[in-house]
Amino acid sequence: MLELKNIRFDVREGTEDIGIIRDVSFTIPDNKFVVVTGPNGGGKSTLARLIAGIEKPTEGRILLDGVDITDKSITDRARMGISYAMQQPVRFKGIQVLDLLRLASGKGTRVTVAEACQYLSRVGLCAKDYIMREVNASLSGGELKRIEIATVLARGTKLSVFDEPEAGIDLWSFQNLIEVFEQMRDSIKDSSILIISHQERILEIADEIIVVADGKIDRMGPREEILPSLIGTTSAVGVCVPLGGKPAAVPQVPTDENGNPIPKSQAKGGEI
Ligand SMILES: Nc1ncnc2c1ncn2[C@@H]1O[C@H](COP(=O)(O)OP(=O)(O)O)[C@@H](O)[C@H]1O
Ligand SMILES: [Mg+2]
Repeated sequence: MLELKNIRFDVREGTEDIGIIRDVSFTIPDNKFVVVTGPNGGGKSTLARLIAGIEKPTEGRILLDGVDITDKSITDRARMGISYAMQQPVRFKGIQVLDLLRLASGKGTRVTVAEACQYLSRVGLCAKDYIMREVNASLSGGELKRIEIATVLARGTKLSVFDEPEAGIDLWSFQNLIEVFEQMRDSIKDSSILIISHQERILEIADEIIVVADGKIDRMGPREEILPSLIGTTSAVGVCVPLGGKPAAVPQVPTDENGNPIPKSQAKGGEI
């Protein structure tokens, strides 16, 4: 179980402290699949970084199974069972995909090549093409993202945090990924999953949904309660919100009688 208690995260800009996260508290119980959603710039990735230990809160405490981990390092938290797939993963020059998966699993060479390949297949990568590849600039953003998700699968920890796993992933792999998350949800045991996502398909398999906007919790609760209020609203699709400001206006796209967008060239007056 993960508990965030009155978390604040301020950054200094000039002489001013700006509140990126403003008094956020929530609990992720064991055996739950929780999705955090909300507009871009709302503070979701910052929350993930605070949980992983990449950033330290200005105020508040973070507890894992009742143990205060607020002052623990990224490595300590990883050892204690928190794994994290970033929105924008980093490359590791000189390290092969196989090494990375073995490293992530904590089992080293006890992970066979066949096992490592299974993790890659689960995220839609043809394992034989990737297993010996170096995790360097030759990989595209989407490939890197999938490899990072595979490392989280290989780790199989108490709390797995995924930041927008769908970003940069093609539709076919996305279907695979949904299945991976469904399997994870079904086989959850004494662990929990936190996914940051805008995707309706992912929101649909959540036990709980937390909507974060403007550095605060806008609302949270069971999926049945929160999801209907999100469908068709800007919160689910991530409209840009300036810090401390109001959501930017959603551009009005002209539609035909069936609600389908009319291409700009055909729209009356050519203006959108
Ligand atoms: N270390 C930082 N320094 C300055 N601004 C930051 C820092 N971390 C996050 N922000 C700002 O905080 C806001 C929330 O960012 P982020 O957590 O990435 O939002 P989300 O993931 O919901 O889109 C953004 O406006 C971002 O630019
Ligand atoms: Mg983000």
